Amino acid sequence: MDPTDRAELNTRLELLSDWLSLGCRRQRPEPVFRVPPPPETGSGKRRGPEWLDDPFYPETLENIQNEVLRCAKCRLALNRRCAAFGEGVLTPEVLVVGEGPGEEEDKQGRPFVGPAGKLLDKMLAAVDLDRGRNCYIANVVKCRPPMNRDPAPDEREACLPYLERQIRFLRPKAILALGRTAAQTLLKSERGVAALRGAFHDRRGVPVLVTYHPSAILRDETLKRPAWEDLKRLRAFLDGGTAP
Ligand code: URA
Repeated sequence: MDPTDRAELNTRLELLSDWLSLGCRRQRPEPVFRVPPPPETGSGKRRGPEWLDDPFYPETLENIQNEVLRCAKCRLALNRRCAAFGEGVLTPEVLVVGEGPGEEEDKQGRPFVGPAGKLLDKMLAAVDLDRGRNCYIANVVKCRPPMNRDPAPDEREACLPYLERQIRFLRPKAILALGRTAAQTLLKSERGVAALRGAFHDRRGVPVLVTYHPSAILRDETLKRPAWEDLKRLRAFLDGGTAP
């Protein structure tokens, strides 16, 4: 075997063993692979995998996740260790949507596992919600923006189809949008959290409630009370109230 092929094969096997044992990549030097030329079709256009054109391709969360883990649609893929796809139950009452993974989420490949995640779990528990029981937690972008900056508009745009597919698959009773990025992206609005919170918004038949991001609450305690009001509103809706 040609030495370059052998080195590439070894790297691929190491990556595969990381994925099989850990579900994400160990900290290793960036792998360098030779990129094969794209397959040509009759029209000369590059095509995706066959199944993307197959109307009977079964949509499962696992399929979406596999695409996300291999996604290279935007620059955030360059620096990620693990994409944080999302986690929770498959028939959630509430889909909680944040902005994007931070440092700890990028390490573990799970959403909201850092300090903001700890607070989020407490906030949800206060209204009997739990990612292990009746919630699903996801983000607008699945890969960590460097230095935890806000995801850029083109990055949000590139990642949004994954969230759309998660929403379609999970069919939550309601969506809780955490913070400005999630709220503005989901509602296609330019308004801030203070203006968008306080009432449900209809998003193609799914009620969306906006509240403050737990990171913002950690920085500013005065946001605790309005966030609590929002969570109570969500609970009342889930308990059979209407979404005003
Ligand atoms: N902040 C987010 O918006 N999402 C996470 O997963 C973690 C922190």
